[in-house]
Amino acid sequence: MCKILQNVEFFESVCSIISEHKKGDNSRKNMATIPENAPEHCPGTESAEAGKASACQGCPSRDICSSISKAPDPDVDRIKQRLSNIKHKIVILSGKGGVGKSTVTANLAHCLAEGGEKQVAVLDVDMCGPSLPRIFGVEGEQVHQSGSGWSPVYVEDNLSVMSIGFLLASLDDAVIWKGPKKNGMIKQFLRDVDWGDVDYLLIDTPPGTSDEHISVAQYLSTASVDGAILVTTPQEVALQDVRKEVSFCRKVNLPMLGIIENMSGFICPNCKNTSQIFPPTTGGGEKLAETVNVPFLGKLPLDPSIGRSCDEGKSFLSEIPDSVATQAFRNIVSKIVDFCNEQSTKITPETGETLMETS
Ligand SMILES: Nc1ncnc2c1ncn2[C@@H]1O[C@H](COP(=O)(O)OP(=O)(O)OP(=O)(O)O)[C@@H](O)[C@H]1O
Ligand code: SF4
Ligand SMILES: [Mg+2]
Repeated sequence: MCKILQNVEFFESVCSIISEHKKGDNSRKNMATIPENAPEHCPGTESAEAGKASACQGCPSRDICSSISKAPDPDVDRIKQRLSNIKHKIVILSGKGGVGKSTVTANLAHCLAEGGEKQVAVLDVDMCGPSLPRIFGVEGEQVHQSGSGWSPVYVEDNLSVMSIGFLLASLDDAVIWKGPKKNGMIKQFLRDVDWGDVDYLLIDTPPGTSDEHISVAQYLSTASVDGAILVTTPQEVALQDVRKEVSFCRKVNLPMLGIIENMSGFICPNCKNTSQIFPPTTGGGEKLAETVNVPFLGKLPLDPSIGRSCDEGKSFLSEIPDSVATQAFRNIVSKIVDFCNEQSTKITPETGETLMETS
């Protein structure tokens, strides 16, 4: 059985046992693969019917149950092997679209790569709207294949990127891919890209918890992912979706490195005063982080220069090194580096796998 399913079951069985204990209900005892919030006739997450049975219609776990393969996938081990030269792997998630995942990913990557000491790689698994080639200023570059795999495109000597955008004839091509094809491409990216020795791999994802996220979580289940960074904007409508993302991470046992609040206050390019474009009516990302017990990594202001640098394919940090936003990126990166260093100390000597903890 694949490890991610075991992880899901472990988490869910604990919830189930606690819940049954609380209810004093004996009828569902010993059905350890039935999650707490499953409908009455749940066939069990381990069943071949999981996600497909009539009881699964309308169940909140249906997408996950139907997507997780019940048979061991040999590529999971190949992916683990391929990524074994990468010290730290971080997945960037958001509940809502357009909150700035790709912008944040690119700037964190530039920041981590500053000084040239660390090797940094970025993987864009947004199959329908790959934006990183443009943001990194490498649109139109070609991906080369060699005996050892696909070579990523180098933005700097120590900063590489791989994206479906490099494989499209034109970035205007509509990429309307269905689940299995998307999963196949994500698997190929994880299994076949020859990254070399890398310190940090950042994986930029599309919004929500769709096929791409389930595939990434499943394929990386044994590859010692350090954790996920959840990006949000301050307003409640975005925060609601982050709560779903937190619950997804917990279900697939993906540790959470922390929450970043992006577009947090607008800095006027003329007077430099800050105004709240998206008011944090319910306390914003910081309050949410506290409520869901996930670290808060920091706030990034809404600064038109960030958008402009991204559109021009330049590093915002190099363009405007003294801005408030640049300092905010640096503070966040310093927390990420600390977190990753702590994770390194939790590697089990026997297996080399990170001891995953749900935050
Ligand atoms: N802090 C910021 N200040 C100013 N503009 C920003 C900021 N963050 C992101 N943007 C702009 O907001 C837009 C959306 O950002 P981006 O594409 O990074 O979001 P995304 O979450 O990756 O979107 P998608 O869900 O479509 O992948 C872009 O035009 C980007 O330049
Ligand atoms: S989707 Fe089906 S198998 Fe999965 S938890 Fe819900 S009812 Fe159970
Ligand atoms: Mg994006």
